[in-house]
Amino acid sequence: MRFIQQPEHRPGMGMGPGQGRGQGMMGGGMGHMGDKDHMVDMDTIHALFDNVKSINRTVRKRPDGFESITESNDPKVAAMLQGHVMAMKGRMDKGMWIRRGDPLFRALFEYADKITIEFKTTPKGIRVIEMSKDPYVIKLLHLHSEAVTGFVKDGPRGMAKMHPIPPPPRETAPPQPKPKARR
Ligand code: HEM
Repeated sequence: MRFIQQPEHRPGMGMGPGQGRGQGMMGGGMGHMGDKDHMVDMDTIHALFDNVKSINRTVRKRPDGFESITESNDPKVAAMLQGHVMAMKGRMDKGMWIRRGDPLFRALFEYADKITIEFKTTPKGIRVIEMSKDPYVIKLLHLHSEAVTGFVKDGPRGMAKMHPIPPPPRETAPPQPKPKARR
């Protein structure tokens, strides 16, 4: 099976519905002004939550990330899954955040340039491989794969759930003030 691969995440290199979308917000603090796709993407997300009963998902964690297969016997839901993953990948390529109030999703966008996403549609859904070389980002990927599995399990009541993340490693933490020189 051949995976579509995009090792680098640079603006303008998005695939699928993400491609050619307006640049819009780059993660600023102005709500979703200028993000014309936000409502459409949220509609798909709500529809996915409403249809979790028809979704099957398997995840295999790998030392560098995870591989998932998420499918539905309902062709409409299968198409939604495919569209959602492509749209989200497009967002990550362009830094167009979504669900920024949830620490895990915020971190995924912050570390997007360290994440490689490969996907291949299947007749009933989509197969995704996500990888990173950074051990902290690999932890985030594992947590994200669990979060999506949680969404499928919980359905609409999972929408409100926030996903905490481990503290970032020292080198990516905000710079600390220098200690004063001793005499
Ligand atoms: C709370 C709303 C949601 C948001 C903000 C959201 C956002 C995202 C983002 C940003 C990604 C790309 C990042 C990544 O793959 O690591 C992603 C991937 C994915 N999402 Fe969502 N999503 C939401 C709900 C859902 C729901 C309800 C489903 C299915 C029932 C779903 C299925 C997937 C799948 C299959 C992937 C590919 C990665 C994987 O298999 O774990 N998402 N989502």
